[in-house]
Amino acid sequence: MDGQFDQRRYLIPFRSSLLPAIFTDTLVIGAGVAGLRAAIAAASHGEVIVLSKGDLRSTNTAWAQGGIASAVSPRDTVDSHIEDTLAAGAGLCDVDAVRTIVGAGPRHMTELLGWGMQLDRNPQGEILLGREGGHAASRIVHSNGDATGAELQRVLEQHTRAAAGVRIFEKCFALDLITPSNEPGSPVMGAITHHPKYGLQVIWAKATILASGGAGMLYRETTNPTLATADGIAMAYRAGATLADMAFVQFHPTTLYLAGASRSLITEAIRGAGAHLLDASGHRFMVEVHPMAELAPRDVVSQAIVRQIAKQGGQNVLLDCRAIEGFGSRFPGIAALLKRFELEPAKDLIPVHPAMHYMVGGVRTDAAGRSDVPGLYVVGEAASTGLHGANRLASNSLLEGLVMGEIAGRACLEMRQPGTADPSAGPAPGWAAVIGGGRAAPVPIISDIRPSERGELDLTDVRSSLRSAMWRNVGIERTAAKLAGASEMIDFWARYTLDKIFDDVSGWETQNMLVAAALVAKAAEWRRESRGCHLRLDFPEQDASRCVHDLWRRGREAPATMPVRT
Ligand code: SIN
Repeated sequence: MDGQFDQRRYLIPFRSSLLPAIFTDTLVIGAGVAGLRAAIAAASHGEVIVLSKGDLRSTNTAWAQGGIASAVSPRDTVDSHIEDTLAAGAGLCDVDAVRTIVGAGPRHMTELLGWGMQLDRNPQGEILLGREGGHAASRIVHSNGDATGAELQRVLEQHTRAAAGVRIFEKCFALDLITPSNEPGSPVMGAITHHPKYGLQVIWAKATILASGGAGMLYRETTNPTLATADGIAMAYRAGATLADMAFVQFHPTTLYLAGASRSLITEAIRGAGAHLLDASGHRFMVEVHPMAELAPRDVVSQAIVRQIAKQGGQNVLLDCRAIEGFGSRFPGIAALLKRFELEPAKDLIPVHPAMHYMVGGVRTDAAGRSDVPGLYVVGEAASTGLHGANRLASNSLLEGLVMGEIAGRACLEMRQPGTADPSAGPAPGWAAVIGGGRAAPVPIISDIRPSERGELDLTDVRSSLRSAMWRNVGIERTAAKLAGASEMIDFWARYTLDKIFDDVSGWETQNMLVAAALVAKAAEWRRESRGCHLRLDFPEQDASRCVHDLWRRGREAPATMPVRT
């Protein structure tokens, strides 16, 4: 990208030898489904430290309503789940990744049941399966109606805490991945972190697994928790990892749209249970848009809602749940939310609007979750494994987190075996000390930046301007002019924000958001076609020559491309 995004290697200058040092075999950054599953796997071969930016109940996973997609019914097949995943991915899925992840679903469900996860069942004790957009069958397992994520988080947390050799540091912010040199390919040796009580520390690790989640806060309207500030994407970029397919941002069709209400997700499972979308005159418009109507892939539904709202002069579209029997017991969390706004789903129509939901692009990984930076593995929403292609199929992300978390957690043992996955052509200073001696004193690393004047900067204003610009210009409907406008604004804000040295999380988050936003805007400008959840009004068709992954790396102005693995 432009120089200003690529100049900074670290958010702060530091001398590692002067900071408290902690050592571990595997450092896991992030404590949602992918991070915890990775930690459990890595604990089988060494010590693990898990960092959680907030507390363990505030992860994106804990918020998940829908469920876990998996072909567990005798009436369903893994092949059918694979087919639906590929169809949603619109030509950009890597087939091997799809086969591996979808194929492992039933085994992971059995494992979770063995670990005590409570799934919703019918009176005969059979697991109840929900239906969501883009799925040809009912295959979404869920817990407590609309609180699957909370139950999954509970079970994984319990299991992680019980694993020998795992330490969990809550409210601990990872600023940057540490590499011994600033050259691309320099191996990751851990991270510099900040904890409100302990301040800055360096955690030295033989393997680092980034599971830091998504980027919802890049957008004014989002279903994500406030912690989703794209930190992992930005820190991996600074460390020289390759990012892929950053234009693909998934917008969920239905969030509650009331003045004063946060953009709370209204799970797609409600449409799966029979809710319909109505225009302002009460007409069910989705039946004319797609043969699956309200259960079309969510890019189709989100785009149709936006067009419908424009057609009816800005009036809301409405979700009609009146035909759903037992709404309160099937979706207790949403029923309680609606009640707070005096909405009764048995009789009221619910105003809904799309919002940013999921970052499809991310740090490119191989089948074992390895990034192209030695020692760095990436799993969950921060990763781009090739599963989702140009659009994620509903409820495939918790599944991906489980499967890739386990794979990467096991694979990172290779960082301790001489001869395999040699982290660099010649061990860079510091690396040998860590992988060889394990407890040797780390070499000093000084970052290449000088403190600048902090100056007068209203960070809250930068953030909210960025989020509004992303929503307006890099949202559901994109054009060259809008994207160029967004890039110009982001460049401008970055000029006087990225050169500052901050000493608090909100400053670091804002810098991360600027880097990630610039990547999304630039990738969307490059992708002059419409595919999956990336809609270019000026290029409304798919372009076969762009049916490739676009790859972004620090120090490279234009993206490289990589063929899709079919
Ligand atoms: C939902 O509950 O609608 C969201 C599920 C998902 O994002 O996979």
